[in-house]
Amino acid sequence: MSVPSILILPGDGIGPEVMKQVRRIIEWFMEHRGLEFEISEDLVGGAAYDAHGIPLHDDTMARAGNSDAVLLGAVGGPRYDNLDFSLKPERGLLRLRKEMDLFANLRPARCFDALADFSSLKKEVVAGLDIMIVRELTSGVYFGEPRGIFTEGNERVGINTQRYKESEIERVARSAFELARRRNGKVCSMEKANVMESGVLWREVVQKVHDENYTDIELGHMYADAGAMQLCRWPKQFDVILTDNLFGDLLSDCAAMLTGSLGMLPSASLGAPMKNGRPKAMYEPVHGSAPDIAGQESANPIACMLSFAMALRYSFDLGGEADRLETAVEQVLADGVRTADLLPEGDATAVSTSRMGDAVIEKLALSL
Ligand code: IPM
Ligand code: MG
Repeated sequence: MSVPSILILPGDGIGPEVMKQVRRIIEWFMEHRGLEFEISEDLVGGAAYDAHGIPLHDDTMARAGNSDAVLLGAVGGPRYDNLDFSLKPERGLLRLRKEMDLFANLRPARCFDALADFSSLKKEVVAGLDIMIVRELTSGVYFGEPRGIFTEGNERVGINTQRYKESEIERVARSAFELARRRNGKVCSMEKANVMESGVLWREVVQKVHDENYTDIELGHMYADAGAMQLCRWPKQFDVILTDNLFGDLLSDCAAMLTGSLGMLPSASLGAPMKNGRPKAMYEPVHGSAPDIAGQESANPIACMLSFAMALRYSFDLGGEADRLETAVEQVLADGVRTADLLPEGDATAVSTSRMGDAVIEKLALSL
């Protein structure tokens, strides 16, 4: 089999500086664990706009589609706020998701013991938390037509459309049930079936997929607003949460904060298997481009590192190596090494982005 390819798209803001540390980690695995990857880099988001006048070049799109895994940093920044909607950095990311058909977005929220005190919730509510949000990523209100700003009479009206086909609900539901089988066997599906027809259909289809193939899994349904409340009240009641594109966007930010910092959380976006059996896949931190701290070497690279761990696990079937990286991160945190996002405002003990990279690599070296 040919050497697996990884396309790195650092993007904007803190993307390039956190990705630099991830490259060091990948190189460590190549040098010390005998892993082989063909790595290339390209532009996305504002960086692509600056170079090509569009947030994703067709060549980059084609390369992403042919890669075994894409690693993305972050996109966006205030410099691009006034661009036409079709040119905004976010459109580059959305095009990648849509054209690679990455319908299942896995967003784990796991609270590292060393950070339980740092959550805005009480320690006993979050200590040991380990849940997985499965967010539908290629449909719903993000892509539904009609959309736009139109004129009606003498005023404008902004329109977006929530739209789900049965087949789109079915395939992401299957992903959630399969994951639950490898975890604690529980799925809670969230929608607003009380006010939205798309939510009624969502609930019906999820239940049908369950009853036909996954009766070993415990399935529950919740309205998404109540789900948000339950996530803050007692998040440990959940194992896998299955939800649509927009609710998943909101609920995953909420879940992320339970763990102490948005700077910790990775994600995997998976599509159908390719010819070589690997799923089409893109891995990215849940956090954004954080333009306020970009270029200062103060960002936390852990979410991006853990995204690479997910790539090892889900694209390359190297769960053992993923565990090795996750354990190294856990040990670094247990030692008290912290970037600024994991400390009270202004704390002088904060380490830089590259120092965090050093610390993880030191722990990896000890794992040999
Ligand atoms: C996310 C982000 C994106 C989204 C933006 C950057 C388009 O918030 O990945 O959660 O809304 O999906
Ligand atoms: Mg989001």
